[in-house]
Amino acid sequence: MKAWKYDEYGGVDVLKLSTDVPVPSIKDDQVLVKVVAAALNPIDFKRRLGFLKATDSPFPIIPGHDVAGIVAKVGSKVKGLKEGDEVYGDISEKAVEKPVQFGTLAEYVAVDEKLLALKPKNLDFVQAAALPLAIETAYEGLERAGFSEGKSILVLNGAGGVGSFVIQAWKYDEYGGVDVLKLSTDVPVPSIKDDQVLVKVVAAALNPIDFKRRLGFLKATDSPFPIIPGHDVAGIVVKVGSEVKSLKEGDEVYGDISEKAVEKPVQFGTLAEYVAVDEKLLALKPKNLDFVQAAALPLAIETAYEGLERAGFSEGKSILVLNGAGGVGSFVIQLAKHVFGASKIAATSSTGKLELLKSLGADVAIDYTKENFEDQPDKYDVVYDCVGQPEKAVKAVKDTGIAVSIVGPLPPPGIFFILTSTGSTLSKLNPYLESGKVKVLVDPKSPYPFDKVNEAFTYLETHRATGKIVIYPIP
Ligand SMILES: NC(=O)c1ccc[n+]([C@@H]2O[C@H](COP(=O)([O-])OP(=O)(O)OC[C@H]3O[C@@H](n4cnc5c(N)ncnc54)[C@H](OP(=O)(O)O)[C@@H]3O)[C@@H](O)[C@H]2O)c1
Repeated sequence: MKAWKYDEYGGVDVLKLSTDVPVPSIKDDQVLVKVVAAALNPIDFKRRLGFLKATDSPFPIIPGHDVAGIVAKVGSKVKGLKEGDEVYGDISEKAVEKPVQFGTLAEYVAVDEKLLALKPKNLDFVQAAALPLAIETAYEGLERAGFSEGKSILVLNGAGGVGSFVIQAWKYDEYGGVDVLKLSTDVPVPSIKDDQVLVKVVAAALNPIDFKRRLGFLKATDSPFPIIPGHDVAGIVVKVGSEVKSLKEGDEVYGDISEKAVEKPVQFGTLAEYVAVDEKLLALKPKNLDFVQAAALPLAIETAYEGLERAGFSEGKSILVLNGAGGVGSFVIQLAKHVFGASKIAATSSTGKLELLKSLGADVAIDYTKENFEDQPDKYDVVYDCVGQPEKAVKAVKDTGIAVSIVGPLPPPGIFFILTSTGSTLSKLNPYLESGKVKVLVDPKSPYPFDKVNEAFTYLETHRATGKIVIYPIP
């Protein structure tokens, strides 16, 4: 078989690719693994430089600790694995005290059964090979330090192989109520594609789709579990993919990370310390806004804008916004006024939020607990439904007008759409945000700290939030 090996200590030069290495024989408690992917660790070159001379195995040495591969043969005492199993592991139980002579940089490697585990189903071999030594070390260190819920931690070299695995994220492994949400401390940092960046999440925001998805509404199209929820992010770019052109490390960005949130939900969302995001979904954060304000924007303001465009809204037209005090509606009012130049804006809310509607720019504030907007004589060029009142919405439309809904289908003359997220909308709107014309409405109960995400969801699910619920700070 082929294998990389060396017969003396030294620099990279001592490493030779050999084609005549015998396939290693296995002991009774070992399996033979066909190596599909292997990973390098600093101990591999330190050993090659002679650091482990005192305890090292004889030459020739085949380096490599991490493996992901397929079991090709099992020893007579092996109980938990069989031929064909996809496995991964660090093949050296005590890498310094008792280094293994024949490592993983070979076509086949003999491994103790107890050092292997079945490969996580959602990971490919490359991803699985990147895990064993680093993630086991990360975990053992946390355990030895007695790390537990609620404690704080400073990781020196958080971007390295070991340090990078220590991230916290909210995730769930089954559909259900708020209870299925768990705060985990052992989530790997998401890997980025060539057209993506890795963002250190500084603030995130919740949207109704996050709980609807958790309840199973998107089952038909959803990603595999575990799911890390969260669409909105404001944070700092810490790594860029090879094809990324307009962003660089250190950029302060914000965006809705899911281009098609219903058709193709993203598995690893923003309620985590780090998130991988397509470059095209991000924009530079408006300079005058802090991260909490920026996180409150993306999904809601992009939806508000796309709906106004789809409705053909333009200067001099009138609009009625159903749910003007919610995340989306608060932006519909402001964009209709400041970006599109509406002639008249009406909006609905309950009694206590009427003044807020006016402060956002509504000329008419309708108390839905006392008045039926659909029975009033006033009709509008556009009715923008952010509640889900299709029959009523179309009744308030002028003969030449149109209703647009973000909640569900409408009878004519109505259109329903689902947002296609894009950072270009945010860039387009940045001047209105930076001039202070369009303001961010952060719910007064928020921000909720990261460890209270479940409480934030419980509040979101009352449907009573005023503006956006933001999560901040994030560890
Ligand atoms: N299609 C898409 O792409 C898209 C995008 C974003 C959102 N959405 C959907 O749009 C809806 C609104 O989202 P959001 O984030 O704006 O919601 P939200 O912020 O959670 O909405 C909360 C607000 O709803 C108001 N409200 C509740 N019942 C109302 C009623 N009968 N009339 C008027 N206002 C009412 C509440 O005000 P009061 O306390 O005064 O009642 C509260 O301020 C959700 O169903 C969401 O899933 C769809």
